[in-house]
Amino acid sequence: MQTALFFTDKYEIDKNLKKKAMRSPLFYVGDKYKLMPQLKELFPKNIETYYDVFCGGGSASINVDAKSFVMNDVDSKVIALHQHLQENSINIDAFIKRMYGLIEGYELSHSEYGNNSEIEALKKVYNKTYFAKYNKKSYLNLREDYNANQYNIDLLYLLLIYGFNHMIRFNKQGKFNLPVGNVDWNRNVSNALVNYSKWFNTNNVRLSPGMDFESFVESQKIKAGDFLYFDPPYLITFSDYNKLWGETEEKRLYRLLDRLSEKGIFWGLSNMLYHKEKQNNILLKWAQKYNVYRIESNYISRFDNTVKSSSKEIYVTNY
Ligand SMILES: C[S@@+](CC[C@H](N)C(=O)[O-])C[C@H]1O[C@@H](n2cnc3c(N)ncnc32)[C@H](O)[C@@H]1O
Repeated sequence: MQTALFFTDKYEIDKNLKKKAMRSPLFYVGDKYKLMPQLKELFPKNIETYYDVFCGGGSASINVDAKSFVMNDVDSKVIALHQHLQENSINIDAFIKRMYGLIEGYELSHSEYGNNSEIEALKKVYNKTYFAKYNKKSYLNLREDYNANQYNIDLLYLLLIYGFNHMIRFNKQGKFNLPVGNVDWNRNVSNALVNYSKWFNTNNVRLSPGMDFESFVESQKIKAGDFLYFDPPYLITFSDYNKLWGETEEKRLYRLLDRLSEKGIFWGLSNMLYHKEKQNNILLKWAQKYNVYRIESNYISRFDNTVKSSSKEIYVTNY
């Protein structure tokens, strides 16, 4: 497919950049952790305040250097999870221990400690769903308890760890309704919690109350040296939070970015130009007036894991 878009390709992807980034303990769908080494190279140096306007799991904050951070997301549950992890960062070991107690109490699997014989037997029969088979009943008990007392964010975090694809999903009645996943508490979860708490304890981090991107940006006192990173839902891909996103939001975002540019405020935007058969024409037209970088993403085809799909991830900046 041909594009009229001019790419700013003075940036060459350095293979050494592929060193590992930190993973957020929210294991968020669509998180930026694998792309952060590349994106960080393109971010301005010496950032005063870094605004993560669509923070999701926070991967785009925890892998950046800045004097201070402000995190925002429209999803109040995402904000509640960050707030809980941040409050517990002062003694993350105690939080992890409390989680271990809940795992034991609910009789959930805990592969960080190795698998028991029952799980090993299930693994032979249910190749891809053995954890789900093992945890289903316990997970439903946990879900029922959380839905009866949604103030208990420990339970919400545990649901996220054991739920389908580590997602957070509520029905119209406000009840958490995700089924069990084939995932459990392994060493990566404890490591991600420890890393997140270290990052929080050694940085100046502020959490927004959870606002729409436009009201959030307009409510901030942005000054010279600050930088705003935007990672919105992509118009042409699908995930649960895309329900909140359509052409109206897309155009509203681009108008906001234009206004920020007029004020001389630096920003960067991640987005997707093509995905499968789809092309984001609003983005294609609008982005022409800014710098556009190709980002190497590893969207592997579902049918052939050696072939990269036709997705084209980009990074747009006004600096
Ligand atoms: C692609 S995800 C961000 C992922 C994040 N950068 C990470 O690394 O985890 C997009 C996020 O935008 C949020 N969102 C959707 N509509 C929004 C809006 N109008 N204002 C602010 N955030 C919004 C969603 O809740 C979701 O968390």
